[in-house]
Amino acid sequence: DKVIGQETAVLTDAPAVPPRITRKHATKVIVNLEVKELEGRLADGVSYTFWTFGGKVPGKFIRIREGDDVEFHLNNHPDNKMPHNIDLHAVTGPGGGAAASLTAPGHSSVFSFKALNPGLYVYHCATAPVAMHVANGMYGLILVEPKAGMSKVDHEFYVMQGDFYTQGKNGEQGLQAFSMAKAIDEKPEYVVFNGAAGALTGDNALKAKKGDTVRLYVGVGGPNLTSSFHVIGEIFDKVNHEGNTASPAKNIQTTMIPAGGAAYMEFKVNVPGTYIMVDHSLTRAFNKGALGMLKVSGDEEKTIYSGKMTDEVYLPEGTSMRNAERSQAQTPSAKTKADRIKLGESIYNNNCAACHQTSGVGVPQAFPPLAKSDYLLNGKAPTIKAVTGGLQGKLMVNGNEYNGVMPAWTLSDEEVANVLTYIYSNWGNNGDEVTPEEVKQHRV
Ligand code: HEM
Ligand code: CU
Repeated sequence: DKVIGQETAVLTDAPAVPPRITRKHATKVIVNLEVKELEGRLADGVSYTFWTFGGKVPGKFIRIREGDDVEFHLNNHPDNKMPHNIDLHAVTGPGGGAAASLTAPGHSSVFSFKALNPGLYVYHCATAPVAMHVANGMYGLILVEPKAGMSKVDHEFYVMQGDFYTQGKNGEQGLQAFSMAKAIDEKPEYVVFNGAAGALTGDNALKAKKGDTVRLYVGVGGPNLTSSFHVIGEIFDKVNHEGNTASPAKNIQTTMIPAGGAAYMEFKVNVPGTYIMVDHSLTRAFNKGALGMLKVSGDEEKTIYSGKMTDEVYLPEGTSMRNAERSQAQTPSAKTKADRIKLGESIYNNNCAACHQTSGVGVPQAFPPLAKSDYLLNGKAPTIKAVTGGLQGKLMVNGNEYNGVMPAWTLSDEEVANVLTYIYSNWGNNGDEVTPEEVKQHRV
């Protein structure tokens, strides 16, 4: 299969899907994907700092053909705080591209792969802590069309489910931080399609006309939950389980899509009305957000269905999401050094572990170690300045040179004191305690 010519991939935001591939040969495809960390809506009155492939959750849909040579450019926007990479399940090679694409903010990485296997695949960030990057929205779909191509349908849509772990309870208003503890317990506050509760309801519903054929490309980013994907009032005429392009199953009610997996399904909409897409683990749909709509317009079709569905039947339950009580949680203040170390640990895991790693060992040539770091022996003041004001330029730590950028951290005096006390008390460091008063005195 000769590779002829070159093109740049058209990428789309959900629920749109790039156009069908009509060429009959393999080509070189350039994919440009930009990682952006940005605040957005998770539910009514609830916002979240999403980490995204292309500015939205899920990430941009990528569509290529079996045999294509893909030149992949991963660009990490300079305003971002974290390094990121990408593991595409469509890649044959170590880490699916992860090691080759680890990219610091303000940098761009390039690697290439040959698309050997056709199918619908998930891609996701694989930077430590991986579950956190995925939980923040770093996943999307890549379709590798088989040589014969995909059959023509009237509509193709892109839907991806994800579970979100906020510190506040479901419905608690305002900007919500990520909860590693809830993620580890696999107890999400939100389970949603396309990055937010309501991303596919009301005016955002998918639309078709009576008699149309519809194909849904459905993925599950996770990080944890498997979806029992179902469209209320429809039967899937065909389901390509696990994203395989070879053999569709026929006449399926509910199809299971694992975390880090995908499937696509086709059906003809014979009767007008509103069809509700759900994860049939139903409290996820009606209490946590995993509910979308397909609105089919056209004249009634009484020979197939005599009655009439309306949105109102389901919305009263959907709206219960907004009623959850607000908790009175506030940042606890440490009374003892042991308290400080305990509180500092979660601050560390949420803010620092992505680069310096959970055990403080850093990443060679990119992020210096905090374990047994001789930098920390310069005294508390320079360390407090590094964290509150950021750090860049050449830096020697334990005999190795680093030349990176660490952003300034917007943490309170108490938080900086706790995280630094945690660092000083672990991994062979000198055990110093840092107090909020010291942070106040030295902060930038
Ligand atoms: C350097 C602490 C988060 C990237 C340092 C240093 C300290 C430190 C004390 C001095 C060198 C050393 O002792 O190893 C922290 C703390 C963090 C945090 C307390 C969380 C609040 C991060 C994150 C990143 C990062 C998330 C990646 C985006 C770096 C880099 C350097 C550095 C690149 C070296 C800068 C240079 O080459 O000039 N950090 N860090 N840090 N940190 Fe962090
Ligand atoms: Cu990432």
